[in-house]
Amino acid sequence: MEPINLHDYEELARQALPGPAFDFIAGGAEDEVTLNANRTAWQRIQLLPRVLIDVSNVDTSTSVLGRRIDLPVLLAPVALQRLAHPEGELAVARAAAAAGTVQVLSTMSSYTLEDVAAAAAGPKWFQLYCYRDKELTRRLVQRAQTQGYEALCLTVDVPRLGRRERDLRNRMEFPPDVVPMNLVTDVDPARVPPESRGSQPGTPAASLLNLSWEIIPSLTWADVDWLRSRTSMPVVLKGVLAAEDARIALDHGVAAIIVSNHGGRQLDGVPAAIEVLPEIVEAVRGRVEVLVDGGVRRGADVLKALALGARAVLIGRPYVWGLAVGGEEGAARVLAMLRAEFEMAMALAGCRSTAEITRALVRFP
Ligand code: FNR
Repeated sequence: MEPINLHDYEELARQALPGPAFDFIAGGAEDEVTLNANRTAWQRIQLLPRVLIDVSNVDTSTSVLGRRIDLPVLLAPVALQRLAHPEGELAVARAAAAAGTVQVLSTMSSYTLEDVAAAAAGPKWFQLYCYRDKELTRRLVQRAQTQGYEALCLTVDVPRLGRRERDLRNRMEFPPDVVPMNLVTDVDPARVPPESRGSQPGTPAASLLNLSWEIIPSLTWADVDWLRSRTSMPVVLKGVLAAEDARIALDHGVAAIIVSNHGGRQLDGVPAAIEVLPEIVEAVRGRVEVLVDGGVRRGADVLKALALGARAVLIGRPYVWGLAVGGEEGAARVLAMLRAEFEMAMALAGCRSTAEITRALVRFP
């Protein structure tokens, strides 16, 4: 099958990947109610185009945190991308740079943040998980700053890992070469000898993976302040759904908020991020940029998000499907498809620039 949209890439990735690997990426928490909501919510929003506007030139560019990007779609942090392709995050770095957008690298990346920084010159943010070992967290921040990552994206919806039942059923285990490399180079070698990696429980790779899921459950707003005091990078909060949290975030000096339910992988039963976006946009009153992710699969979804006040969206699974199917080129083609769809949706809606995308463009039936 020759893929013509992002759904096709998911289907091709299903064929290309071992079942448990596909499920790890595709799956959500428990009954996957939120995972499904992430798609259906976009479909409930209608577009109301304007006509008789000269759209022979349509400009899809915008900016995030003051940095110009060619399209308002960032690459969301996704752990352990070597599971999808041997070149993993390195290939994605090159695809993102070629598309002129930001790659947000996961703490749990399967190449080091240094290697990813060296792979391509495009703009990058570093997604941070905070560990019980505060010194480890501090060193990760320092390394990201040294390597020129432009923002720190603190994920706040993982006080514990959500219950992904597909992985439990599959007894999902990662291959020995798929490890969180940022931590391999950083954890005390006495705890995890990297030369003896194995995938069986009790062997070092398994213990490293366990360790890497040891995200601190006691993270609070005081830690946001601590982080801000440790770095000159702007701090972006990822995983906010309640408007009240967005208001509190303003008091703690965050630079942007990503409205997200972690792709339906954490608390099942929360709304799709796009459904709460308007409340959050209203709560922050333009003081910080608001981004949104979860279920973006069409250029028209990007248009809807911007119309509802998002500065940009992020995509997670779609570019990983591209990566699984065709490495760097696959990820690049996913971005190119989404860009072409977005440009088309803008033209059909009568928008010549992202600045012309306003609230009047959407309605809820
Ligand atoms: C994620 N996500 C994620 N988020 C994060 O902050 N750190 C991480 O390490 C990961 N890892 C991760 C792995 C996999 C396999 C998936 C699918 C997702 C969540 C991700 O950043 C994003 O919020 C969602 O993926 C967006 O939803 P879509 O685009 O996948 O529907």
